[in-house]
Amino acid sequence: MESTASAPGKAILFGEHAVVFGQPAIAVAVDKRAQIIVRKGKEKYTTVRSADLGVHADLDLFNNNCIIKKGKSGIINYILESLLMAHDGSSLDIELKMEMPIGAGLGSSAAVTVATLAALDNFHEKEINISSLAKKAHNVEIKVQGAASPLDTAVSTYGGLVYLSEKSEVIPLDADLENSLVIGYTSQRGNTGKMVESVHLRRDRHPEIMDPVIESVGKITREARKILSNNHHNNFKLNHDTEYTGSNLGESNLGELMNINHGLLDAMGVNTLELSQMVYKARQAGAQGAKITGAGGGGSIIAYCPGKILEVLNALQQSENAIKADFSKEGVIIQ
Ligand code: MEV
Repeated sequence: MESTASAPGKAILFGEHAVVFGQPAIAVAVDKRAQIIVRKGKEKYTTVRSADLGVHADLDLFNNNCIIKKGKSGIINYILESLLMAHDGSSLDIELKMEMPIGAGLGSSAAVTVATLAALDNFHEKEINISSLAKKAHNVEIKVQGAASPLDTAVSTYGGLVYLSEKSEVIPLDADLENSLVIGYTSQRGNTGKMVESVHLRRDRHPEIMDPVIESVGKITREARKILSNNHHNNFKLNHDTEYTGSNLGESNLGELMNINHGLLDAMGVNTLELSQMVYKARQAGAQGAKITGAGGGGSIIAYCPGKILEVLNALQQSENAIKADFSKEGVIIQ
C-alpha cells in the first residue's frame, strides 16, 4: 500500500502576526507544493527521507524520539507530530518532495503538515474531511511552534485566495490576481515560532502602543477584502507585457494598503535590513505595493506589480532570489 498527498505553500497578502491576535488575514495558495509519499516500513523505526532537503531521520513513534541521520530537524518535527496525531505507531517509510524553500515565509511547514495528515488518513483508508484536516494541521502547528493561527494550514488545505475572518472562518475571495504578484526571498531563514513569540513579548511590554498597531492591521485587511471583492475578474486581468489598464483607484489602494501593512510589521519588530532593501527595490522598480510576507526575521517579501512583473523580478534577482507567484486554485490533493 502506498499513499501520496500534496499541499501548496502560501503567500500572505495582509495580516500576518495580527492574525495570531484574532485579527483577519488574506493569503493566497501558490503553485509550489510539498508532496508526501507514505509506504509500509521495512525497518524498526519510521524513516523520513527528502532528497530535495538533504534530510534523513528515523522516528521512534513509541518513545516520541527523532534521530536525525542527515540534515536539520526543523520540518521533521511537523511530520513527527502529524504521525503522533494520525498514525498507530507501526513503522512507515515516508518520502518528502519539496518545491519550495524552508523558512522562506511560504508556508512550507503548513504544506508539509497538511500533506502528511492527508497521506496518513488515505493510507489508513479514512475518508478525508477538509475542515477537520485543516483543524488537525493547525493543532500540529501549535504543538510544534507553541503558537500559530489557523491561516497557513487553512490556505494549504483549501487553496485559492482566502480571507480568514476574526472567527477563523475560511472565506474564498474571487479576485483574479494572476500575473500581478512577485515573491522575493532572502537567503536568511526565518523561524516562525520565534518571530511569533517576539511579537507577543513586544506587545506585552507595550500593550497600549502595540494593540492599536495590531488593530490597524486588522482594519487594513478588512479594507483590502473590500477592494479585492469589488475588483474581481476584468479589473485584475493583466500580464507582464500588457500595459496596466485596471481600475486605478482599486489597484493603487491595494498597493498602498500593502505599504502601510509593511510599516506596521516593521513596528512589530519583524523586519530585517535585507527585507527592507527588497521592499524598496520592488517599489522603485514599479511595484504599487510591497511588504514582508509571512513571519519575517528573514524569509520573503511580496510585491504587487501588475504590468511590471519583469521589471520587479529583474530588480530583485540582482541581489536575492525572486519568483513570480502563480496561484494554486487547488488545495490539498490525494494523488
Ligand atoms: C506565518 O506564516 C504567519 C504568522 O502570522 C504566524 C501564524 O499565523 O501562525 C506570522
